[in-house]
Amino acid sequence: MSSVESKILIRPARPGDTGPVFAFLQEVWEGGDYLPSVWSEWLGDPQGQLVVAEVNGEPIGTGRIADLGGGEFWLEGLRVAAGYRGRGVAGKIQRHLLKVWENARGKSIGFLTHRDHTAVHALARATQFTERFRVQMLRWEAAGGAHDFQRREDGAKATKRLASWAESHGLDGRMEADWTYPEITPERLQPQAVWCWRDERAFTVLDHDEWDGQAIAVLAGLCVETEDLAAFFMDLRRLCSMLDLTGMRWFAPLSFLRVLQDANVDPQTVEDLEMVAYLKFR
Ligand SMILES: CC(C)(COP(=O)(O)OP(=O)(O)OC[C@H]1O[C@@H](n2cnc3c(N)ncnc32)[C@H](O)[C@@H]1OP(=O)(O)O)[C@@H](O)C(=O)NCCC(=O)NCCS
Repeated sequence: MSSVESKILIRPARPGDTGPVFAFLQEVWEGGDYLPSVWSEWLGDPQGQLVVAEVNGEPIGTGRIADLGGGEFWLEGLRVAAGYRGRGVAGKIQRHLLKVWENARGKSIGFLTHRDHTAVHALARATQFTERFRVQMLRWEAAGGAHDFQRREDGAKATKRLASWAESHGLDGRMEADWTYPEITPERLQPQAVWCWRDERAFTVLDHDEWDGQAIAVLAGLCVETEDLAAFFMDLRRLCSMLDLTGMRWFAPLSFLRVLQDANVDPQTVEDLEMVAYLKFR
């Protein structure tokens, strides 16, 4: 065991950790880390546990486990200060959080990481996670004109169709919920988020996010026939306008990009965000 590894203590994060943690986060992704924007919320959230790794009384790493409900858990916020990397700190945080999951008798646990985060892929293998699917972030701007969407108050039919699309398109029957991927269940579908298109030919679930300070829609889930793709996506852009959103983003299954291209659905922006979803089951 290295000298650093033997000194690492993993413990729940406290408000007093905020300053030192934010200081080392300055070096993560050139200061562009989202963690400071969710830190206070995570600190006080009883549906999750935020931990820090401490060496000689100084926080030098973070990680969080979130309870998504229904026995599903998610890992996020894994960070290690630049000067302490490659010495097993992240591994120790990850194993600690997995113990929390085991003690809670959770059904499944997952996480999302960028294609290029080599250390995290190594960690996933070392802690017996399986790669389940890959998604690519695509963005469109809102467009003017009339659309054919209607709000759906009753989510039962939509749940089945959305889950079945997500199953047959490699997403394990899951949808995006704020960068996590829980299973699609009726309880998870907020009635105000479900929209049907052209008399139930297609459905979508819309969430909201901010991008460059602008409010945008998030395609959390969808189910649509290939022949309808072009018209459906055009109408989605029009729906964004009606909802006063500047555009929308979607984590498209990687395996679906070719289908979109063949259907002439061109995203206006392909972000450098190819993400890999890992899962582990009890
Ligand atoms: C990713 C990060 C958390 C890893 O922290 P770390 O403490 O350096 O990781 P560890 O030392 O515990 O190593 C974890 C595994 O990755 C491997 N590894 C570490 N650094 C590596 C590197 N640069 N390249 C390849 N593999 C690497 C280790 O060998 C280990 O694998 P093993 O368990 O099979 O031995 C850290 O680099 C970091 O904070 N990066 C910036 C933020 C980030 O990308 N977070 C992840 C978001 S999902």
